[in-house]
Amino acid sequence: MIAYASRTGNVRYIVSKIKAEAIEIQDGLKLDKPYLLMTYTDGFGDVPEKVARFLEQNEQWCKGVVVSGNSNFGHHVFGGAGEKIANAYRIPMVRKLDLRGIQADYEAIQQFYETRVLDENVFEIK
Ligand SMILES: Cc1cc2nc3c(=O)[nH]c(=O)nc-3n(C[C@H](O)[C@H](O)[C@H](O)COP(=O)(O)O)c2cc1C
Repeated sequence: MIAYASRTGNVRYIVSKIKAEAIEIQDGLKLDKPYLLMTYTDGFGDVPEKVARFLEQNEQWCKGVVVSGNSNFGHHVFGGAGEKIANAYRIPMVRKLDLRGIQADYEAIQQFYETRVLDENVFEIK
């Protein structure tokens, strides 16, 4: 499962490149299985507020974070939402993409998804 937030479509595009079940984050969403979080960066390296609220309710199953940002903001804040989430929740930052990213990003995300998100799901069922 992928849980994602997208304001202007870049993250939604990235999600479309990954073969996985995906759900857009909305207030009140509660997940009960492993998922990969994908988010954009807001403010000045900040976590979008709806993503922060979602994580407060869904910390338990979050296996990693993929972040999109715009490198024109400068390296101190580029993709800052991903760093903040990874540090706060002690999860891997899988990939930081500039806007929609490139093919190599999608391949790395797909591999992480299959080995670290889906596999745990199978393990849970056993
Ligand atoms: C108001 C605003 C603030 C932003 N702040 C940052 C930032 O601090 N760091 C960064 O890397 N990108 C920043 N961005 C860029 C977005 O994170 C980036 O365009 C991302 O690809 C948007 O994803 P989305 O199209 O799925 O919403 C900002 C964009 C907007 C509109």
